[in-house]
Amino acid sequence: MTIDNSASAPILLSLSTRPEPYSPHVRERLELDAKQIISRYPHPRSALLPLLHLVQAEEGYITGTGIDFCADHLNLTGAEVTAVATFYSMYRRTPTGDYHVGVCTNTLCAVLGGDAIYEALQRHLEVGHGETTPDGTITLEHIECNAACDYAPVMMVNWEFFDNQTPESAVAIADALRAGHQVRPTRGAPLCTFRETARILAGFPDERPGALEGSPGAPTLAGLEIAAAQEDSAGGPR
Ligand code: FES
Repeated sequence: MTIDNSASAPILLSLSTRPEPYSPHVRERLELDAKQIISRYPHPRSALLPLLHLVQAEEGYITGTGIDFCADHLNLTGAEVTAVATFYSMYRRTPTGDYHVGVCTNTLCAVLGGDAIYEALQRHLEVGHGETTPDGTITLEHIECNAACDYAPVMMVNWEFFDNQTPESAVAIADALRAGHQVRPTRGAPLCTFRETARILAGFPDERPGALEGSPGAPTLAGLEIAAAQEDSAGGPR
């Protein structure tokens, strides 16, 4: 087993070679989608983030071909698109499995078990940070705070939350995903694939059952309730 924590990513723009363009069929389909996305914004360049999700949905990561497509349609340079695509970690620079498993190893999650969860998954899946299992199902990454610290330690699969995890529960989720079982997050709709998720993030309808439902849980509301109780006891406004 080789565990590589260097997270090396290929250089996206090679100035000596041009990326292969999409096939005419794919380009025609993507152009219809891109037109729809761009029409939502007053300036075409404002559509860059959803357009990057669109090309990520096509290939599972941001390729030179996707960068050229975005640049062509938004009147930007390849360098400008690359600068944005490499700034945000939700845009991946290497091929991604059907399920992107991100373990929060930021401080709070780490001390509550995030580091142990990440290490257990590394050992169990035999992949390192940013690597994908040979069957193409899971790409593992350690990720930064997901603003779900009240449910620490947190793991995300295709950006859906799995709260209060343990090494054992995380490994069980990974096994279920690799076995092709339907897996539900702690909150939110049933999981879809990484590429399907990217298309939703590009702004296309999320038609999964329960996708638009949900409300904050007790841990999230706890601070609000304490603040309200203190205001009550001080005779202040609620
Ligand atoms: S530290 Fe893990 S979600 Fe905030």
